[in-house]
Amino acid sequence: MKSPTYILVGIYTLLGQAAAVGVVGTAPGFAASTTGGGTATPQYPADITELTTWLTDSTARVIALNKEFNFIGSEGTATETGCRPASNTCPDNGGQDAINQADWCTNGNAGTGATSIQVTYDKAGITPINVGSNKSLIGIGSTGVIRGKGLRIANGAKNVIIQNIHITELNPQYIWGGDAITVAGSDLVWVDHCKVSLVGRQMFVAGTTASNRVTLSNTEFDGVTNWSATCDGHHYWGVYLTGSSDLVTMKGNYIHHTSGRVVRLLRPRLRHRRRGYVVAEGNVFQDVVTPLLENKGSLFSSPSTSANTACAADLGHNCQLNTYGNSGAFDGSDTGFFSDFSGQTVASADAASTSISSSAGVGVI
Ligand SMILES: *[C@@H]1O[C@H](CO)[C@@H](O)[C@H](O)[C@H]1NC(C)=O
Ligand SMILES: *[C@@H]1O[C@H](CO)[C@@H](O)[C@H](O)[C@H]1NC(C)=O
Repeated sequence: MKSPTYILVGIYTLLGQAAAVGVVGTAPGFAASTTGGGTATPQYPADITELTTWLTDSTARVIALNKEFNFIGSEGTATETGCRPASNTCPDNGGQDAINQADWCTNGNAGTGATSIQVTYDKAGITPINVGSNKSLIGIGSTGVIRGKGLRIANGAKNVIIQNIHITELNPQYIWGGDAITVAGSDLVWVDHCKVSLVGRQMFVAGTTASNRVTLSNTEFDGVTNWSATCDGHHYWGVYLTGSSDLVTMKGNYIHHTSGRVVRLLRPRLRHRRRGYVVAEGNVFQDVVTPLLENKGSLFSSPSTSANTACAADLGHNCQLNTYGNSGAFDGSDTGFFSDFSGQTVASADAASTSISSSAGVGVI
């Protein structure tokens, strides 16, 4: 009698799992029409080779991760001359040193007084997987981890969903050690309920060619590091937006332990005519020393209930107030660019809430 019972339990479990696997919801904001791998049958890659093949080929796929995929060591290590930037004055070799990527150590970026040192890094971390079009990459529960490699959606790849995946450990001890997620020359990318931690460089980077419609939602950007460029356990390199024609919605994200570039908008180098335009609403700033370092673009920081009614005509709702706890000033009342929102899918906004810290990230979808 034991055997049949066992088999029935097995079948029940499989059916339950199949029904639950798939992308949850749709993107809020600009990337709303992203469908990823659509209705393709979910597939579970066996190892990093199969994962890479499925992500890079030209077949629409739903790729489900129910374990960790560890790329560390898969491409070997490199030992070469890098540098200790002048800014790294941390005690006990505790800061972040640099790989000499794009001559960063020798072209002045490392600062006067930077010293040459030998660096040894994992090669897998500095070359991301080039994800193809029409892919959904989803994690099961909190098991979907990619360790030691980033993802890049570029060169015409479009319609990609990355949901409930933790990307971690890309040479965190080195500036240029690796970016977690890169988009460039793409369209319709939705990153949702992911987590990024312990990267060498950017947690998310868009640029320099047009990334078009992007939504980053419900994602935890965890900057806790033992190799802080600012010697304080905080990661410096956060979200870097420098695409030439990008529409980026960020909603419901939890960004913590960062010390710079939480979001950096840089006007595209080749198109100085264009600038960054930002509406910031419903954010919680807690212990943020410098919410705004400098503003050479246009910012509406949702400054007051009465001013926030200006959002309604083009964004479709009155903007939500931000809240500030032990944080610096964040001033911007520029509404002149609101007409650019007209005709776009604009995310609704919720009132500022500290519950973001538990609703963002993996395993809570
Ligand atoms: C992605 O899917 C769209 C819609 O089905 C299709 O037109 C396009 O060719 C696909 N792209 C690739 C690279 O397969
Ligand atoms: C930092 O180092 C300490 C002591 O070695 C270790 O316990 C901790 O896990 C490290 N933290 C990270 C984020 O690597």
